[in-house]
Amino acid sequence: MNSIIKSFSEHGTFIQPDTLNYILSKDDPKEFTTFLTKNLKEFPLVLTISHIKEIEKLSQKVEGTPETSKSIPYSPEIKKIQSKMLSEIYKIGEIDYNKSVDNDFEYDDPDKDDQIGFSEDEPEAPVPKILDIKKLKGWKPKAVEYEPEIKIIKDVTGNSTCEGTTSDFTKLFVDRFNSLRKILRNQRRELANVIPIDRIKKRDVKEIHIVGIVKDVKTTTNGHRLIELEDDTGIAVCIALKNDHETLHLANEVVLDEIIGIRGQLSRNRDLIVIQSIVHPDISIQNSRHKAEVPLYAAFLSDIHVGSKQFMIDEWQSFLKWINGQIGNSRQKDVAGKIKYLIIPGDVVDGIGIYPDQDKELSIINVYRQYEALAQQLRLIPDHITMIMQPGNHDAVRPAEPQPTFEKEIQDLFSGMNIEFVGNPCYFSVHGVEILSYHGQSLLDYATNIQHLKYNEPVEIMKVMLRKHHLAPTYGGYTPLAPEHIDYMVIDKIPDIFVTGHVHLAQISEYRGVTLINASSWQAQTSYQKMLNFIPDSAKMPIVDLKNGIVTMMDFNKKLA
Ligand SMILES: [Fe+2]
Repeated sequence: MNSIIKSFSEHGTFIQPDTLNYILSKDDPKEFTTFLTKNLKEFPLVLTISHIKEIEKLSQKVEGTPETSKSIPYSPEIKKIQSKMLSEIYKIGEIDYNKSVDNDFEYDDPDKDDQIGFSEDEPEAPVPKILDIKKLKGWKPKAVEYEPEIKIIKDVTGNSTCEGTTSDFTKLFVDRFNSLRKILRNQRRELANVIPIDRIKKRDVKEIHIVGIVKDVKTTTNGHRLIELEDDTGIAVCIALKNDHETLHLANEVVLDEIIGIRGQLSRNRDLIVIQSIVHPDISIQNSRHKAEVPLYAAFLSDIHVGSKQFMIDEWQSFLKWINGQIGNSRQKDVAGKIKYLIIPGDVVDGIGIYPDQDKELSIINVYRQYEALAQQLRLIPDHITMIMQPGNHDAVRPAEPQPTFEKEIQDLFSGMNIEFVGNPCYFSVHGVEILSYHGQSLLDYATNIQHLKYNEPVEIMKVMLRKHHLAPTYGGYTPLAPEHIDYMVIDKIPDIFVTGHVHLAQISEYRGVTLINASSWQAQTSYQKMLNFIPDSAKMPIVDLKNGIVTMMDFNKKLA
């Protein structure tokens, strides 16, 4: 059964339980699975019995002919199911970008109880125990010899201006438009002759170059793609013709509210621009990366989810022992000793009230106590390591992005520890190596809005984010956006390392010199994920050598010697 689930999950497709039973009822379920994967031209998010019946029907009709495949229509119903499933898997609740921390965060005076942990009416469930970690004689971590060198380059923390008014939104989109238009005009030769949209019809030029914000994008009944592009002077209706496959592919990647450049020609009756190419800011192929001059490493630790019943205590304790030089072979101990930074991209606790009935999945039902339990664990990280911690959608900060960092009441729980608290997203450097750290909620918007992207291939989505120079362009999707006067979600500087979390997968890739990381999680499969056959890739830790950019992955699911 697992191999069947795996065959589909590799393509980003879940199987409904009754669909799985149907496959298992076949004489040779494995062979039938191969038949299905061969005949599915597009892999839906959720495989239903009606998909299978349609494939069976089509294959019977054309038996004996070589062309048996036909694509499954990407219907609005499927899209609806997708949206529902995704929001359930990733526990996205109702969104209110103005919701303040006070509404969200139940503060309990810690002095009220002497004991950190549970009140009497809280259920008994596994909570992280405190390990007895003593300093090992003879273990001399290399990273002790170096002072930390951290620079915060871009962070909304302390700089938030938004009050949620209409004029705030106007300022946000104007800032987005201006900063990305500047990048497009200065860095893309194809757009050297950009003109304002209101001059299109006045000009008698063959080729038109415009830059604007995508106001609408849709497919016509004939299969062409229509894009409405707006700048500060007007709106242009542009069309990617269905026979121009290359342009149509680019047009299919266009999402609402992003800034793009278009090269095209006016149609004969001068009311449409026929798109020849769509230009994104992208990254130069000559992009070169910064390297540290010191032999230090940065490790990435995302989605810890302390407070969840599924928090992986054993694997976490194995990590703590390893980072303290207590376990691992000599090479693994050498790596542990060189780690100078632990970067934590959000969902540090499981939170409360993130989704209906979450309390049934919690081992600690008070969010303040969740942070206390996390602090107890992080106190076991050696003092020479600096942690850089940002919030995610489960944390007790405002849900709208960009998220300023944790409130003082939470930060105080970690007092005396070597932690730099930053917002989400945050752009910073360590020893000159520039890192863009983003929790990653918009990975789901991208996966839903661009058909060929899959939520379980986050690094592929991150490549698209880099090409577009934007983390979350679409307003009104899964990602609540706060109308700051500066668009903190614009990628206006190319990082050396781009890290996300949120989807609980462990992946490493590269795009034009940028290292891409999705930084796993420390939460095992939840009951809902289990029902949907979603398999997280937890308890892994990507580690980057800051001197040469090489990435390795530690796997704490395996026993270390
Ligand atoms: Fe998470």
